[in-house]
Amino acid sequence: MGFRKDFLWGGAIAAHQAEGAWDVDGKGVSIADVMTAGDNVTKTPRRITRGVLEGEDYPNHKAIDFYYHYKEDLKLCAEMGFKSFRTSIAWTRIYPNGDDEQPNEAGLKFYDEMFDTMKELGIEPVITLSHFEMPYNLAAKYNGFMDRRCIGFFERFARTCFARYKGKVKYWMTFNEINNQAEWRAMGAHHMVQEGAVLVNEGDDMEAMMYESAHNELVASALAVKAAHEIDPDAMVGCMIGMNGVYPATPNPADVLNAQQAMHQKYYFVEVHARGHYPSHMLKKFERKGYDFIKEGDAEILEAGKVDYIGFSYYMSFATQFTGRFGDTYDFSEEDYVRNTYLKASDWGWQIDPIGLRWVLNWFNDRFELPMMIVENGFGAYDKVIDRTEEGYMIDDQYRIDYLSAHIAAMRDAVNYDGVDLLGYQMWAPIDIVSASTGEYDKRYGFIYVNENNAHTGDFSRDKKKSFFWYKNVIATNGEEL
Ligand code: BG6
Repeated sequence: MGFRKDFLWGGAIAAHQAEGAWDVDGKGVSIADVMTAGDNVTKTPRRITRGVLEGEDYPNHKAIDFYYHYKEDLKLCAEMGFKSFRTSIAWTRIYPNGDDEQPNEAGLKFYDEMFDTMKELGIEPVITLSHFEMPYNLAAKYNGFMDRRCIGFFERFARTCFARYKGKVKYWMTFNEINNQAEWRAMGAHHMVQEGAVLVNEGDDMEAMMYESAHNELVASALAVKAAHEIDPDAMVGCMIGMNGVYPATPNPADVLNAQQAMHQKYYFVEVHARGHYPSHMLKKFERKGYDFIKEGDAEILEAGKVDYIGFSYYMSFATQFTGRFGDTYDFSEEDYVRNTYLKASDWGWQIDPIGLRWVLNWFNDRFELPMMIVENGFGAYDKVIDRTEEGYMIDDQYRIDYLSAHIAAMRDAVNYDGVDLLGYQMWAPIDIVSASTGEYDKRYGFIYVNENNAHTGDFSRDKKKSFFWYKNVIATNGEEL
């Protein structure tokens, strides 16, 4: 009973949310570099500007300055006993414009040194190739993955990384939360630019663009998996799915069918990644809509590029109520989400559902029988600094401990009772970083506090929260003591 002996306990961040140094050592401008700061209190959303504009607040430009602090930050993670650390490679450090012929040596060297540091600390790197930080040039010049040339640019980037870090990195993932864009009605423009560097203009057919650019990303992902297997037979390449399961709001069969359609729309991506082909319901949808972007040879590529494991993030769950909006297709729309009255929510409205984690682990396992890795799970909250306690912390984040312990207990149940094959757990994010959805510093996830805030009055110093000591014991007891 319990987690495997070599369970990959750890934490996850992404390059753009942590590194800063946005224009240092030859790095190019990324999508994240043109996203402004938002604020949950004033309900100010992030904006995407066309290029870097004078006078705007771009929080990812400095982030938490991890570029210059990563050694001390990783040491703190090692002190907690981390066995793994997930981060991403900023594509723009390696190919500053995305379509360059030659990689940037300074960027490659930076990650060489970072991975060496992890190895010295006994920490296994788990690396995402594209985490919301595609080169801005690919958006401006090609409209991102709307142009099939981006497939080749991504493959080149992936091959460069696999060849360079062979022997240092075993666990890879292709596109972070590739499926967020499936909610194109609610957050379309935001997700499509984050995931595929696709800029949506007034009057565009967003739905058609989403399915087409996502298809090109899926082809690019499959080519990368194939390349990794050729270059390094020891490499394990996973997909990365943003998994927040959708329940029916009631036992009314119409709601149940509607929830099933929601799962189809949001998670067909993993069917393609894991099975190597589209599920029939998606092919029928494409036929109904008259989409013809699947080109000759794509089917063979998808089949040859099946992933080795399923990486996914889990934060919350949703519930949907059928409104009849799309007639007998029972198609889903985010507008039909309803609040789940059985669940509480965070200050950002994210519904807290530990049992849902066991449910999604089973959902994946029932379909794919592949190893899995939970590569994100965490609690964003406003932390309050208090006088330092005798135990040595100055943030009493018991709410974060409660969230994480309930989720770890649920995944332990999935291992013990349902027999799911779980490789590891990387909580999000061991150190406070810039929020991806809101661009805030004040939405904090860390065990390690970073003294910076939305108003930019901090000094970037690091400190330990109560949860730091708690997680250290969780790892030391291999998840026995929560
Ligand atoms: C996931 C992303 O969606 O959730 C991360 O992969 C992100 O990049 C995390 O940071 C938490 O979301 P947020 O918006 O609270 O930062």
